Amino acid sequence: MDSYTVLFGVIGDPIRHSKSPVMMNRAFEALGINGSYGAFHVVPEKLGEAIKGIRALGFRGLNVTLPHKVNVMAHLDEIHPGALAAGAVNTIVNEQGRLIGYNTDGIGYVRSLKEEAASNLADSKIVVLGAGGAARGIVWALAQEHPAEIIVANRTEEKARELVATLSAEANLTPIAWSQLQTACQDADVVINTTSIGMAPNVDAVPLDVSWLKPGAVASDLIYNPLKTKFLQQSDERGLVVHGGLGMFIYQGAYAFEYWTGQRAPVEVMVQAVLESFETSFSQ
Ligand code: ATR
Repeated sequence: MDSYTVLFGVIGDPIRHSKSPVMMNRAFEALGINGSYGAFHVVPEKLGEAIKGIRALGFRGLNVTLPHKVNVMAHLDEIHPGALAAGAVNTIVNEQGRLIGYNTDGIGYVRSLKEEAASNLADSKIVVLGAGGAARGIVWALAQEHPAEIIVANRTEEKARELVATLSAEANLTPIAWSQLQTACQDADVVINTTSIGMAPNVDAVPLDVSWLKPGAVASDLIYNPLKTKFLQQSDERGLVVHGGLGMFIYQGAYAFEYWTGQRAPVEVMVQAVLESFETSFSQ
């Protein structure tokens, strides 16, 4: 670092688990960019002050993680339509003092799905499990790919209906009850778990019976701890195409990196940095 170093960071509460600093700093290094990315523990009461600090110190960019993704919007100057539709911001770009909010989670997820498992989503039938914050951004981004239908299943059916109602202009969306999942999965091309079912420490839980999925279907899970959930292990054993959550994390970061720097993100280097960091934290 020197007096020209351009500053970036991530704010959240908690934040010490974040792999973003390792991933982003390695990406800056790989492209020879004089940038530095830190992790900042910001409690909810200090969110407004933190954003003022970003303005005052002239940070070029910031990632925003839980629990600030919704509340941060009130402190920004402009919100990108994709972030408005998702109802959350995870990336801020500082354009000469104007703070612009984006959401790269949903589009990061879709880029990773397309690169790693399903190159063409047009005319496909997609089932999304869950209707929380993560599902909303993902459904919006999936809708931009012109699928034939997106079915949203949620334990609390009312939340699936609400999500579908707010995004219905974007695509052919159908809310269903959890009990209708088996029928919905039978002819689905892609089934995506956005719930926390199967996340550490509950690694033996699965969101559904994978025998419901048709041969050749893609089973996708947003969870990246563990890297391969029980849902994906069972899908793999059945010969389905599996897609894990690490890609979403990498590509949400790749988009953020690209918005900030205008350069293509060194995705391979970023994957490597995160995997190495997992190995270190698992062995500690
Ligand atoms: P996120 O922002 O990660 O999506 P969230 O907004 O809390 O987190 O949403 C969590 C999602 O996981 C919800 O769809 C939740 O279902 P409910 O709306 O019925 O609560 C779903 N979920 C969590 N645990 C679940 C479980 N054991 N069975 C079914 N769905 C579950």
